[in-house]
Amino acid sequence: MPNIRTYPDDHRLARAAAEHFVAVAASSIEARGRFSVALSGGSTPRPAYEQLATSQFASRVDWPCVHVFWGDERCIPPDHSDSNYHMAHEALIGHVPIPPANVHRIHCEIEPSRAVAQYERTLRKFFADASHQSATTFDLLLLGMGTDGHTASLFPGSELLQEQSRWVGPHYVDSASGWRVTLTPPVINAARQVTFLVSGSAKAETLRRVLAGYHQPHLLPAQIVKPSSGSLLWMLDSDAASRL
Ligand code: 6PG
Repeated sequence: MPNIRTYPDDHRLARAAAEHFVAVAASSIEARGRFSVALSGGSTPRPAYEQLATSQFASRVDWPCVHVFWGDERCIPPDHSDSNYHMAHEALIGHVPIPPANVHRIHCEIEPSRAVAQYERTLRKFFADASHQSATTFDLLLLGMGTDGHTASLFPGSELLQEQSRWVGPHYVDSASGWRVTLTPPVINAARQVTFLVSGSAKAETLRRVLAGYHQPHLLPAQIVKPSSGSLLWMLDSDAASRL
């Protein structure tokens, strides 16, 4: 079984996730002079971002050394209430002294294929080392999980689940009648630390299937996340963990 930490409720999960962010940021900055983090969207991480914005946590982060990215984004304007950038800006980014140039949002207000190409260029440039290779990517990659087992915008049946080289791809979400831009398995599994944040009883059965059921990532995309050299951590509240 992967590394799992369970907390009594979503508030303590949020505080633990904020503490995790602070700890990984400090170790990354000490080791490499910078901390690259990809934020998850959805509702689960918002309380953690809000905790992180409080002085108790924010004062312990060297924000000028932090670079923020996103795991996926909806193809809507950045000021739209459903935008993952908008949520993170309201909950965290607008409250901490991170340089604007260090906020690498996915420019989803443009045509999806152009947004994909632009974000891929941004990532490849940021993570290219002296030999122009990119063995590892994000110091921390936060992910959520839907009740259908999707993560980022890698949904069941998506062809992006078989992607072996591109780091970013587009996905049309029928249920939302909209395009999304998402990280793909290669860049996700090249992260140093991947951490899922999952809360609520609605996720319990899916989580059991993902963690203890058959390996079928085409049906349960969260199973595609297996960092090649990095660490995988699941941070859960007791409701989400109730069937493990
Ligand atoms: C998004 C996220 C998505 C999210 C899951 C869980 O853009 O919505 O990237 O993968 O993490 O859908 O969403 P909740 O946290 O709202 O349950």
